[in-house]
Amino acid sequence: MALRKLVAGNWKMHGRASSLAVVETLVDKHLNPACDVLVCPPATLIGRLSGRGVPVGGQDCHWETLGAHTGDIAAEMLADAGAEAVILGHSERRADHGETDEIVAMKTAAAWRAGLRAIVCVGETEAERDAGQTLACIAAQLAGSVPEEATGDNLVIAYEPVWAIGTGRTPTLAQIAEVHAFIRESLETRFGHGIAHAIRLLYGGSVKPGNAAEIFEVKNVDGALVGGASLKAEDFGAIIAAA
Ligand code: 13P
Repeated sequence: MALRKLVAGNWKMHGRASSLAVVETLVDKHLNPACDVLVCPPATLIGRLSGRGVPVGGQDCHWETLGAHTGDIAAEMLADAGAEAVILGHSERRADHGETDEIVAMKTAAAWRAGLRAIVCVGETEAERDAGQTLACIAAQLAGSVPEEATGDNLVIAYEPVWAIGTGRTPTLAQIAEVHAFIRESLETRFGHGIAHAIRLLYGGSVKPGNAAEIFEVKNVDGALVGGASLKAEDFGAIIAAA
């Protein structure tokens, strides 16, 4: 049975108070009753965007509930501000902040403790793909980043090849299909058929209005994690419409 698609926007370090208009336009013109939508703005905007008609998520959280961690945000704080979900282990955080699989797993457990759905990101670098290491890389990230208590409600996996993020390059549909099938099989082996087939698998990396429809048709693709194109209501709306 096909899962309900999820189209999630990752605004990264973009967005000011003026960006609230993007969400207003989305709600006015671009929602699609056939799919779920999530907007993950910078933490400064979570409280301002929540309750405006589109579910809101964070882009990271700490693994502890509170404490002396200047500049960090607890999962409970995201939930308190109105977030329903949080992106974890994005390649930019793995690269910029040295996040390991172990840290991502701790953050995922923290998100669940706070009642947030975790969107855990995995993806190979270009060097790993060229070396034929794509599936081995994904296997290691999945095994290390996802705790045992995964369910279809609390977990979404986003496959984001690092070399496709913000570059305008995308894998072929066959390459996307191969990795998504591999992720589904890995989840099946670990969590059993029922849970594995309830967890949504998103593709992310240069998703645009022009390629969204064909990507959504790929088997085991249950939605998209959209960066740049989620900053413009019209582009994000066109991707939502394609889901
Ligand atoms: P782009 O859509 O800008 O390539 O970013 C993808 C991404 O990193 C979403 O998390």
